[in-house]
Amino acid sequence: MSTTIKKGETHIDRPELKGPVKIRLENVSFRYPDDISRKNERKEAVSKGQIEDLSFTVREGEFVSIIGGSGCGKSTTLSLLAGLNKADSGKLYIDDKEIDGPGKDRGVVFQHYALFPWMRARKNVEFGIKQVQNLERKELRARADHYLDLVGLHGEGSKFPYQLSGGMQQRVSIARLLAMETDILLMDEPFGAVDAKNRVVLQDLLLELLESDSDKKKTVVFVTHDIDEAILLSDRILFMKGRKIYRELTVPMSHPRKREEIVTSRQYLEFRKELFALFYDLDGEDQYENKHIEYFL
Ligand SMILES: Nc1ncnc2c1ncn2[C@@H]1O[C@H](COP(=O)(O)OP(=O)(O)OP(=O)(O)O)[C@@H](O)[C@H]1O
Ligand SMILES: [Mg+2]
Repeated sequence: MSTTIKKGETHIDRPELKGPVKIRLENVSFRYPDDISRKNERKEAVSKGQIEDLSFTVREGEFVSIIGGSGCGKSTTLSLLAGLNKADSGKLYIDDKEIDGPGKDRGVVFQHYALFPWMRARKNVEFGIKQVQNLERKELRARADHYLDLVGLHGEGSKFPYQLSGGMQQRVSIARLLAMETDILLMDEPFGAVDAKNRVVLQDLLLELLESDSDKKKTVVFVTHDIDEAILLSDRILFMKGRKIYRELTVPMSHPRKREEIVTSRQYLEFRKELFALFYDLDGEDQYENKHIEYFL
């Protein structure tokens, strides 16, 4: 069975992960400065931000997923970790150093893939690499092509984003992230626009990459709506609700993981059921379409 912690508690340590704490958030609150939508709301609502008193840690080499309903602050949390927004209060650390803007230690893949429309796919990937490393022209191109091949875009490097489908564009943004070869990967629904078949391929690829000896120390914060994806990939799952971490679950399956073995195991099915119940509040107050959801369990 999984280990869950109760509402109000903040962290489960994973003794099997010996690495030091890589990422730490302490009582972080944030509100977008131009949030006009809230200005007309009740006074108490105005005082609330997009993120309230958020605290969690991620160890080196750990894969942590953030799940939660739309608008609960997942992308905002990632933007703070990426250094693209600054917390109003509280602190964020990487390797015990306070985050002060974007850093070469972090690669980000955004929910809306954010490719430069005027750059060909390969140039988009090369742009990412250049942010963190100076490579010779030939080496730069070879690395970009290597990662484009990995995500199944062999021979597509000279196309512009508008010549690629949404799923292909998203794969370019994943190639760009991986090609940066940073220690920390911040991924916001990276497979959201990818079709079901390629999604499976990319999940397996990511799992394989992260379980390979050279990349075992990569630390990943991954936002997803897909519960099965979260279980397959993660060591730990943070469930956000009401602008903070509502529940934290340690995924009971060990590494290396093989999809076929995982999805048929009893442990997986039990854990999945627990997560679904939490996500759709099956025992709780919301009573959200319970009958419909039970069908999937
Ligand atoms: N640039 C912005 N300016 C003002 N408000 C914003 C901005 N971006 C997001 N918000 C608001 O902040 C809250 C959290 O948004 P966020 O994008 O973090 O949600 P999310 O959990 O990632 O949702 P989703 O699952 O739909 O991607 C929402 O209420 C949203 O309306
Ligand atoms: Mg989001």
